[in-house]
Amino acid sequence: MAPHTAALERDFQRFQRELPRDFPDHVRLTYRIDLTGRYLGERVPHPIGKGSGQLSLNAGQLEDDAAAGLAFVVLKTVIAQDETGAQSMAAWAIHETKMQVERRRSATGRTGWTVTWKGRGWDRSLEEYLALVRAGRDLTRAEGLLVVPSVKYHLPRLGEPFRESEYRHTTGRLAEAWRDAPLLLEKDFSPTLAGDRLAEDRAQIVHWLREVPERIRAAAPLPVRLALKLMNARFDDDFQLEMMQAARGADALVCFNRLFDEQRGVAYGGWDLSDRNLRVLGTPGLRPGLPGLVGTGNICSGRMIMDYARRGCESIQLHTFLQLPLSEYPATHGSRAQRALHALVFHPQDGLVAVLLELEALGRLERRGGELHFLDLAADAHRSG
Ligand SMILES: Cc1cc2nc3c(=O)[nH]c(=O)nc-3n(C[C@H](O)[C@H](O)[C@H](O)COP(=O)(O)O)c2cc1C
Repeated sequence: MAPHTAALERDFQRFQRELPRDFPDHVRLTYRIDLTGRYLGERVPHPIGKGSGQLSLNAGQLEDDAAAGLAFVVLKTVIAQDETGAQSMAAWAIHETKMQVERRRSATGRTGWTVTWKGRGWDRSLEEYLALVRAGRDLTRAEGLLVVPSVKYHLPRLGEPFRESEYRHTTGRLAEAWRDAPLLLEKDFSPTLAGDRLAEDRAQIVHWLREVPERIRAAAPLPVRLALKLMNARFDDDFQLEMMQAARGADALVCFNRLFDEQRGVAYGGWDLSDRNLRVLGTPGLRPGLPGLVGTGNICSGRMIMDYARRGCESIQLHTFLQLPLSEYPATHGSRAQRALHALVFHPQDGLVAVLLELEALGRLERRGGELHFLDLAADAHRSG
């Protein structure tokens, strides 16, 4: 048995009870693997973060994530408003609490997990959101957990103007709460938007993606680093590529938010989502000149993280894998975030350490300075286009 195989088995077993928060240091020392990832231009100790949604609604959740050792957390999407409180996207600020974690069979017959939920964006006040941003800012400074707000701003029909006042007011308040430059921000193009009549027109979507980064930067009182979280539009793969090219003004692209089930009127994930995302991200010739890529969708193993990384993603965002029944995780103790990290990093066959060692054995990843580097996967993808 290779020495690393035995060590990995041992780590997998002992970390079932408790995952050390500084596990990236442990991985570096034991396996000479550098797990460093990148999100929105920031170096993070490993590539695994939490996507925006129902798991980043309060300071308690953020504290648990910092304790578990997640690399970053994107806060729930807030709906932009102007100084009078008017929200052109108010239809997204609806209240809905009940989520259903369900199995879902994909078109190719594989059974995965999806979360069924009818809600949309942040449904409390902007003031309450700003308090959460301040809590996130404090945790970012004190604990090293990178916390990033997410916004849904006004999107006009072609020929109509953008409501600059919503961009200015909301971005200004977020910048005031965050205080230091740069302000890191995600802009959400959600699956429910993909299912909305607003998104029936391709030219209109392309127009948004070209314009929105500049609108946000122009509206902000301090420098902004912006990730656009792209939707899976209801068009073909070529249109996904067109959206990515149109979004070049962003600093990062999160690819891609959940699919939309028109019959049930809900967003969904599972294998259909990762099949589509990986197919689009794997398009030859796609990457030169694109912003940094972040993967999201059906990430339930280190092997799936590797699949996104080999298509250029420098970090990934989880939601569903942080919500599974406890019996689905190999760990026996700890928060869901700890149990998820344990499986994603230390699983002896499908964890990140195992798959990086496997790539080395296959001659597809080389050590530099004696170490394997997670970010080399994305760099290789970008080099080969
Ligand atoms: C219940 C639920 C709520 C979500 N809300 C948001 C949101 O407000 N903003 C956003 O950008 N993404 C939202 N997402 C998308 C997730 O952040 C994630 O990108 C997506 O679910 C794909 O990852 P997964 O397959 O691990 O769930 C939500 C997902 C779920 C399941």
